[in-house]
Amino acid sequence: MTAARPVILAMPENAALTRSIAGRLHAELGMVGVRQFPDGESHVRIDADVARRDVVIVCALHRPDPKIVPLWLAIDAARDLGATRVGLVAPYLAYMRQDRRFQPGEALAARSFARLLSRAADFLATVDPHLHRIRGLDEIYTIPTRVAHAAPRIAQWVREHIENPVFVGPDVESRQWVAAVARASGAPSVVLRKVRHGDRDVEIDASELRGIGDRVPVLVDDILSTGHTLAATIRPIVAAGLRPPVCVAVHGVFAEGAAAMLERTGARIVTTNTIEHPTNRIDMGEDLAAAVADLLSAGVAPPASIAATP
Ligand code: R5P
Repeated sequence: MTAARPVILAMPENAALTRSIAGRLHAELGMVGVRQFPDGESHVRIDADVARRDVVIVCALHRPDPKIVPLWLAIDAARDLGATRVGLVAPYLAYMRQDRRFQPGEALAARSFARLLSRAADFLATVDPHLHRIRGLDEIYTIPTRVAHAAPRIAQWVREHIENPVFVGPDVESRQWVAAVARASGAPSVVLRKVRHGDRDVEIDASELRGIGDRVPVLVDDILSTGHTLAATIRPIVAAGLRPPVCVAVHGVFAEGAAAMLERTGARIVTTNTIEHPTNRIDMGEDLAAAVADLLSAGVAPPASIAATP
């Protein structure tokens, strides 16, 4: 008997990437409907038959807090309806920047969030999590994980669209992505220094920009949140009369006001589709499908104590 096709379910706002992943895995595509009751509680409904099948739920976790309860309800419903294993694709993984206790008494959110998701799902696939002081997801996640990397896709997009680029990283944390993209493109790169004074107040030391000449500056960062890091990098480039920059972010979180502020800089913004946004130009579906296929074939065991209720 052949195993039933897996079911890939899209949480709201994840339909395009879910379709891309499901198509490549020849999996059945389904949706998780979420609506709010008048009292603010969530109503969650899975529109697919998940009994005795592997289920993968796709949910980008930007602005995560209101998404967590519906996601938990969807995972638990899939188990309750008889799913064999329930994995999570979180193309953008939240809370990874809170990887240290910066002030006494603060929650170590990256670790707490990892414990929460590890209790919920049987496995996790994501794209370029913000790994800085935490070296790998295995340090904090207790379930099997796979990471897809955006650098090859970004390099390909730049090769196809930008002539004579130089990659620019706004800060040391961006070095890993900038270096990978530059390597894959065979183009030079510089990494600048950033001082963050507050959530929306950053300063960039742009002295390294001297010497990039007539090349097109391609700013690369993993997360675009308030947009201030990119804006503070764009300004000295424009002020120095260099070629108009192009910004490529892996995860376009676009916090309140970010899109309008970046539009005023005149720079072109491009993102991958880990978070649905009009700037999406780079599809991570193939890479996430490969990560999911690997997890499904790795024989991740279903939890021992789950029994379906009628
Ligand atoms: C931090 O080190 C990250 O790599 C990004 O540079 C940062 O998250 C960008 O945040 P924002 O858009 O709020 O400046």
